[in-house]
Amino acid sequence: MGVVGLGHFVPPRIVTNQELESTLDTTDEWIRSRTGIHERRMAESDVCASDLAVEASLLALADAGVSPEQLGLIIVGTMTPDTMLPSTACLVQHRLGATNAGAFDLNVACSGFAYSMAVGCQFVRTGAFDYVLVVGADTMTRVMNWKDRGTCVLFGDGAGAVVLGPAGEGQGVLSIHLGADGSGGDSLCVPAGGGRTPGGTPGVPKSEFCLQMHGKEVFKFAVSVIGEAAAAAVSKAGLTPDDVDLFIPHQANVRIIDAAARRLGVPMERVFVNVDRFGNTSCGSIPLALSEAREQGRVKEGDLIVLVGFGGGLSWGAVAMRWGKKEALCPA
Ligand code: ACO
Repeated sequence: MGVVGLGHFVPPRIVTNQELESTLDTTDEWIRSRTGIHERRMAESDVCASDLAVEASLLALADAGVSPEQLGLIIVGTMTPDTMLPSTACLVQHRLGATNAGAFDLNVACSGFAYSMAVGCQFVRTGAFDYVLVVGADTMTRVMNWKDRGTCVLFGDGAGAVVLGPAGEGQGVLSIHLGADGSGGDSLCVPAGGGRTPGGTPGVPKSEFCLQMHGKEVFKFAVSVIGEAAAAAVSKAGLTPDDVDLFIPHQANVRIIDAAARRLGVPMERVFVNVDRFGNTSCGSIPLALSEAREQGRVKEGDLIVLVGFGGGLSWGAVAMRWGKKEALCPA
């Protein structure tokens, strides 16, 4: 099974580093040199993850030539659902008119898209469903502490979607590698808003409902785990890092991507980067990058593409896939 359709959507409002300079003790130079980020997108206050997800999904379905009624399942990777209940996936299912699909959310922070792909693939592989829609969508700007310059400059809003369907022999998803280390949970967390500290608990500062991060710890973790996860997925597919045509890591920081690619031994010409224009869009980042890479002609028939996510949990996930033409992936 493999990707038979792709799409992405970002909200139109661009927030530049210069704009942040006017409200925060930061500089464009600091943000660019430490992260590679130039600008990010921010959703209007009435736009949520489901809205971004629906737009990206419509594009992916049109690209695949698959109707919403043909979907057997919708998985939305998100850590910023519209509401605690119902799930964002159910909102998407309803708005798309996917009347034959089950739907659920999957929250593995920035690893959410890789995990969602891994789960979605199983249903196509077993023949349970012909087509599964996998979406990564986040409105990270909603969980930012806009007084914390160490985190709020890093994130943006966005979504990407893929339709998974039958693939030709040797094409599509070749291997999956998933991992987690809950001992590092505190280094990247949103402490309040769940069952432990529900909204409305007296005396809890607003910052507890926002993302908190030990940047240096996450940086070190990310650099080592990206390479290891990619190497594991590639090796499970019986290949080596030399075989990788396009490496698409989670877009968090260009220094992390650069260091991880060096460790893996993949030159930057074979690595896709768009963090400069979107910042870290969490679950949206990998499908947004994959979709843009294809738009830019960076994805070719027969290419070995490796996707790697990492993030809160701590968690990580990698998917190795052999790209094939839609026609080849969807035999009549
Ligand atoms: N502007 C100016 N100065 C800043 C800013 C800012 N926006 N942010 C921090 N600083 C300051 C700090 O206060 C510190 O000042 P001090 O030395 O006077 O104390 C100095 O810059 C250095 O701060 P560090 O945190 O040491 O900077 P570092 O080089 O580690 O870069 C960064 C910070 C960019 C956050 C980096 O650690 C990083 O990218 N970490 C990983 C982040 C990441 O990948 N997150 C993934 C999340 S995935 C998910 O699941 C959500």
